[in-house]
Amino acid sequence: MASKGIFRAVVSANRRIGERFYRLGLDFEGAAAEAFAGARPGQFAELDLCGAGLPTAEKIPEELADSARRKILLRRPFSFCDVNSKGNKTSVEILYCVVGPASLRMTTLAAGDTISVIGPLGNGFRMPVDRKWAVLVAGGMGAGPLQYLAKFLSVNHEDIEAIVFAGAKSKFDLPFERRLDEISQQLGFSLAEFAKYGVKSSVATDDGSAGFAGPVTDCLLEWLENHKPPSREIIIYSCGPEAMLAKVAKIAKERNIDCQVCMERMMACGIGVCQSCAVECKVEGSNETVYKLCCEDGPVFDSKEVVF
Ligand SMILES: Cc1cc2nc3c(=O)[nH]c(=O)nc-3n(C[C@H](O)[C@H](O)[C@H](O)COP(=O)(O)OP(=O)(O)OC[C@H]3O[C@@H](n4cnc5c(N)ncnc54)[C@H](O)[C@@H]3O)c2cc1C
Ligand code: FES
Repeated sequence: MASKGIFRAVVSANRRIGERFYRLGLDFEGAAAEAFAGARPGQFAELDLCGAGLPTAEKIPEELADSARRKILLRRPFSFCDVNSKGNKTSVEILYCVVGPASLRMTTLAAGDTISVIGPLGNGFRMPVDRKWAVLVAGGMGAGPLQYLAKFLSVNHEDIEAIVFAGAKSKFDLPFERRLDEISQQLGFSLAEFAKYGVKSSVATDDGSAGFAGPVTDCLLEWLENHKPPSREIIIYSCGPEAMLAKVAKIAKERNIDCQVCMERMMACGIGVCQSCAVECKVEGSNETVYKLCCEDGPVFDSKEVVF
C-alpha cells in the first residue's frame, strides 16, 4: 500500500446538503489512489484552498462578511466521511461546514477543478477486537468520520453491532440530509447516512428541535443503563466538540469501557513539523503529563490518555 504524499485531486462533486453543510467529492488516480485506498476512518487530509475563489457577495453569510477576504496561507485539515476504491481510482468524500474563509472558498469548488491534497494523515480509529457492540457518539461535524467508521465496521466486522448517537445544538447544526424535525427519539434507521450500512442511529439536540431534547451523552447513558453490556463487550468511538468528548471519556472511565476519541486542534502543517497541535496526555503509571501531536500521534487517542 502506498503511503501518504502530496497529490492532486480532481473535484467530482460539491453538493450542498443543508444551510451550512456540503459534501465534497475528490477523485484520485495512480499513486494517490493507492494511498487513499488505505485511508482509515479518523485519518484526515490537508487541503490547499488558497486558489479557490470566493462566492459572490450575496452568498457570503453575514457573520463571515469581515473575515471572508482573509488570505488563506495554510492548508486546512478535513477527515473523510466515505472512501471508495475501484480499479486505479479512489474517491474520497468530505463532509464540511462553512465556518470561515477557507471553508467558504471550498463551496466554490466545482466538478473538474483540481486541488492539492496532503494525505492520508494521522492515526485513525483502532478496530475492535472481540466486541459485541461499537457505540459511536457524534457531536456536530464529528458525524463525518463516524459515517466512514460505521461503513468500515459493517464491511470488516460484521459480527459487531454498531449504533450511533448523533447530537448537536439544534436541528440546524445536524449535518444530515433528511427533515430532522420528523425524527423520533428512538434508535432506528432514520438517518440514511448510517442506515445504508445497516447501522441504527438516534438524534439529540440541546434545544429539543429534533430527536431527544438534551445532550447526546444522555442518550449514551440511557442506552448503557438499559442494556448494561459487560464492559469487555463494548467499545465507544467518539468525535465532536472537546467538552462532549470529555463527558464521553468520563462515562467510559466510570464504567471501565474502552473508548477512543478523535481530537481537533488548529493544525498549521499536519505533518509533525510546526508543533501547533499539542494535546496534553497522561503518562501511564505516573502523575506526569506529556504533549503529543494531534496530527501525528492522533487525531484518535485512547480517551484514558487525554487530559481534558
Ligand atoms: C483532524 C481534523 C479533521 C477535521 N475534519 C473536519 C471535517 O471533516 N469537516 C469539517 O467541516 N471540519 C473539519 N475540521 C475542522 C476544519 O479544519 C476547520 O473547520 C477549518 O480549518 C476552518 O477553516 P476556515 O478558514 O474556514 O475557518 P477559520 O477562520 O480557520 O476558523 C473558523 C473558526 O473555527 C475554529 N477552528 C478552525 N479550525 C479548528 C480546529 N481544527 N479545531 C477547533 N476549532 C477550529 C476557529 O478557531 C474559528 O473560530 C477538522 C479539523 C481537524 C484538526
Ligand atoms: S499540525 Fe504541525 S505539528 Fe501538528
